[in-house]
Amino acid sequence: ADGPDRGVWRYREALPFDIGVTLPEGDTPLHTVPRLEADVGVETLRVKHEGMNPTGSFKDRGMTVGVRVAEELDVGALACASTGNTSAALAAYGGRADLETLVLLPAGKVAAGKIAQASLHDARILEVDGNFDACLDIVQELAARGEAYLLNSLNPFRLEGQKTIGFEILEAFHADHDTYPDRIVLPVGNAGNTAALYKAFRELVQSGALDVDDVPKLTGVQAEGAAPMVEAIEDGADEVRRWEDVETRATAIRIGNPVNAPKALPGIRNTGGTAVAVSDDEITDAQRALAAEGVGVEPASAASVAGLRKLRRQGVVDDDERVVCLTTGHLLKDPDAAYEAGNDPEPVENDVGAVLELLEN
Ligand code: F0G
Repeated sequence: ADGPDRGVWRYREALPFDIGVTLPEGDTPLHTVPRLEADVGVETLRVKHEGMNPTGSFKDRGMTVGVRVAEELDVGALACASTGNTSAALAAYGGRADLETLVLLPAGKVAAGKIAQASLHDARILEVDGNFDACLDIVQELAARGEAYLLNSLNPFRLEGQKTIGFEILEAFHADHDTYPDRIVLPVGNAGNTAALYKAFRELVQSGALDVDDVPKLTGVQAEGAAPMVEAIEDGADEVRRWEDVETRATAIRIGNPVNAPKALPGIRNTGGTAVAVSDDEITDAQRALAAEGVGVEPASAASVAGLRKLRRQGVVDDDERVVCLTTGHLLKDPDAAYEAGNDPEPVENDVGAVLELLEN
């Protein structure tokens, strides 16, 4: 059967089906960011903006495949734990498939735009008095008891869809630069994308489409207050220690137990990549720098650029590198964070004289 020649399903040969429940997703821009590139000081910097997917994050790539599998299995209800974006995508794609959706969110720690999406797309929303990791523990138990089909990134079909981020980056970068990026820098929460990109590159190498020397170095970035993967990379550990207390303004990656670590750690190590932690202030600065180039992202997404800056300062990233930063979610996901990082509106009288006077000051 034929699938569409656009977006995620253009890569159907690498996916378990030819088409899924689609809105459609993928085909996101690979922005040039000339001022940021010069400021960071690398040969090439491109930004793959996954916030341009239908619900505003990369999760749509996974959901189009995951919900298709759920249809195939004829399950009655779908569920996930979420820091917000997964719940928005599940609600939208589940709704489109006419399936019931249940989402468990950490109370008080999910950005406004994401709850608004889950709400209007008609998910049943449970706010749990605990962090994301606690929500995931509960929803895994619900799935084990047959209450619902689990659509967190523990579900391997989600990662199949997310592989297409890697395919798109390599294709678009090669089309413009006649070579592949040396490094891909991405925010890490559950490390699903890290695992998915690694799988995508392995499949390309195995099929002979990509030389193993051309595989980009997978470089993960976490917030200092939620950095168990960074700890494991720095310690050379085989396992990631679960952090019970996590905090960051990048609430999307406020995660202490990255469940895809067993797949993601080898991805970082075997590609010659690394992992780095950044402060919330560094994240905010990077969010502003991206916004200044017209690229509006949520805080977790800006972590990629903040991490790249830090690795440049440390001399880990060379000035002759070609780098792609992944920005995972749209600015509008977290309007409160945007107001905090940006300019304050100035009230003014309904009078041109008053406006001119204000502008002079
Ligand atoms: N960036 C954003 C905007 C996210 O929403 C997430 C994860 C990540 C990065 C981390 O990606 O898990 O593949 O390492 N959000 C999940 C959610 C946890 O529930 O929306 P990862």
